[in-house]
Amino acid sequence: MCGIVGYFGYRDAKSIIVKGLKRLEYRGYDSAGIALYDGSDIKIIKTKGKVSDLEDKIAAKKNANGSLGIGHTRWATHGVPNDINSHPHRSNSGDLVIIHNGIIENYAAIKKELVNRGYSFQSDTDTEVLVNLIEAVQKSGNYKLGEAVQIALNQVVGAYAIAIIDLKKPNEIIVARLGSPLAIGIGKDEYFIASDASPFIEYTNNAVYLEDEEMAVIRLHKEPEFRNIKNGDLFDPYVQELQLNIEEIEKGGFNHFMLKEIFEQPKAIQDTYRGRLKVNKGLVKMSGIDDNIEKLSNAQKITIVGCGTSWHAGLVAEYIFEEIARIPVEVEYASEFRYRNPIISDKDIVIAISQSGETADTLAAIKLAKKNGAFVFGVCNVVGSSISRETDAGAYTHAGPEIGVASTKAFTTQITLLTMMALRLAKAKRTLSASDYKRHLIELETIPGKIKTVLESDALTKKIAGIYKDATNFLYLGRGFNFPVALEGALKLKEISYIHAEGYPAAEMKHGPIALIDENMPIVVIATKYGHYKKIVSNIQEIKSRKGKIIGIVTKGDTQVKALADHVIEIPETLELLSPLLTTIPLQLLSYHIAVLLGKNVDQPRNLAKSVTVE
Ligand code: M6R
Repeated sequence: MCGIVGYFGYRDAKSIIVKGLKRLEYRGYDSAGIALYDGSDIKIIKTKGKVSDLEDKIAAKKNANGSLGIGHTRWATHGVPNDINSHPHRSNSGDLVIIHNGIIENYAAIKKELVNRGYSFQSDTDTEVLVNLIEAVQKSGNYKLGEAVQIALNQVVGAYAIAIIDLKKPNEIIVARLGSPLAIGIGKDEYFIASDASPFIEYTNNAVYLEDEEMAVIRLHKEPEFRNIKNGDLFDPYVQELQLNIEEIEKGGFNHFMLKEIFEQPKAIQDTYRGRLKVNKGLVKMSGIDDNIEKLSNAQKITIVGCGTSWHAGLVAEYIFEEIARIPVEVEYASEFRYRNPIISDKDIVIAISQSGETADTLAAIKLAKKNGAFVFGVCNVVGSSISRETDAGAYTHAGPEIGVASTKAFTTQITLLTMMALRLAKAKRTLSASDYKRHLIELETIPGKIKTVLESDALTKKIAGIYKDATNFLYLGRGFNFPVALEGALKLKEISYIHAEGYPAAEMKHGPIALIDENMPIVVIATKYGHYKKIVSNIQEIKSRKGKIIGIVTKGDTQVKALADHVIEIPETLELLSPLLTTIPLQLLSYHIAVLLGKNVDQPRNLAKSVTVE
């Protein structure tokens, strides 16, 4: 959560930082701020609200200029969102200025000690404590800023990605990382700092991603100095060549990133299986899996960990792995797993799913699984992310940047990748007949085209959204492979429209939720034509006799549900196992249109952030 940006070079730092903050606003958007060194002073401008509010404030101050600066967009952890708690924060002397993404867990104890030593605090934040701790260290031993930062960071517990500048030495920026991402863009005579590479992609495609417990002292016309925070050892970093391009991080004519990302799914899924799914040869090729196929085939169970939408993708994968690879699967919320005493050993495989690759709970679950000897496989979207580095092996979904806070293409590409993984395993374990195996490969390749067909229901979905936008509760029902899709549909609606929604296995309805049903309750039922079809039709009849309003997601050509439901949205026929990739699409569109009709901020819903790097 929180986005940080910095610039040091020869251009106007303010415009680079503000543009960068806009690109990082998905990470947090309750306040924003900037600090600029103007040649004689460090000017701080900050405000509660969006980056656009910050822009207005900057415009009012005509002399905010400079080519060294740092900026921040915040998702509050300590202290309410207001101007004072916004970053950057200044030390008591006024010399040091910091931006911070993360949480300092022992800030209260440090603050108490600093207060005893005469320090005072303006804000309620842990960050203001950190900058003053650095200053106190600096003064205690006449240390250089880099040294003071290193000593101070060894005293804090928690997570951080920080950037600090010093009025007395305006020729350097110090950055450091533990648990929160930080990338340094290396240009010619200029440096960029950011939580991800999107703020600097048009200036350079050379970047260093700091690892945990690493810091750097960045000076102009000099090689940056990279150090380990724990022992102070110098090291040469790996400079990565970035593949990202500017079009991928812009809206491309859509009103919202979420809508763009929904419509991108055919391409995103193709990108996930490109070079990996070789239908003609009857192969699924993924080096992370091929290299470890023996371990995977001999595992006694798979435990999948993730949060939110990634957890839902894990639930779909549970059905898929058990069905075709005949291996027991458990799916756990990473946040629960990490604090249990899970029965995991070196005979187990743990699959960690995360779009951002930065989710704190998922990272902690991985560490616990590794400690217990399990082999951990990562399914991430963001290349070079913490989870992709922490896992023993893995595969990227290659969905491209997902900016909308509500996950859409991340979900379907995760399912695609996990399906390929299950197929590869099924082949190795011979749990699928050759013809069934081939049928799955052929059908998977047709999914992008079929999603395009489902997307044609956009106008119809918008119409249905208009009818139910004022409902205060929604129920989502599905069975089998589509039960997790019901959960995902409900989550999408909740997070962007703030309408209460619940997902349930359809048959569970009569064990409680049926009591909620009356003429005001819209119920989205995934009623595609598979094994459970008759049972779902009975569930729909039960709802109708209680006057509930049915929005059915049905297979093309369906007549039975059509006769009972108030509305139906059709999806093309496919294998049951692959149907979540199609049934999900109308649910994404429905929540999108309801949120837009209600005037909600679709891409940046209240209280949420795209990557949850705190627990
Ligand atoms: O980046 P991750 O996949 O690890 O994120 C997990 C959840 O925070 C995320 O899926 C969240 O639930 C989304 N807002 C759902 O749309």
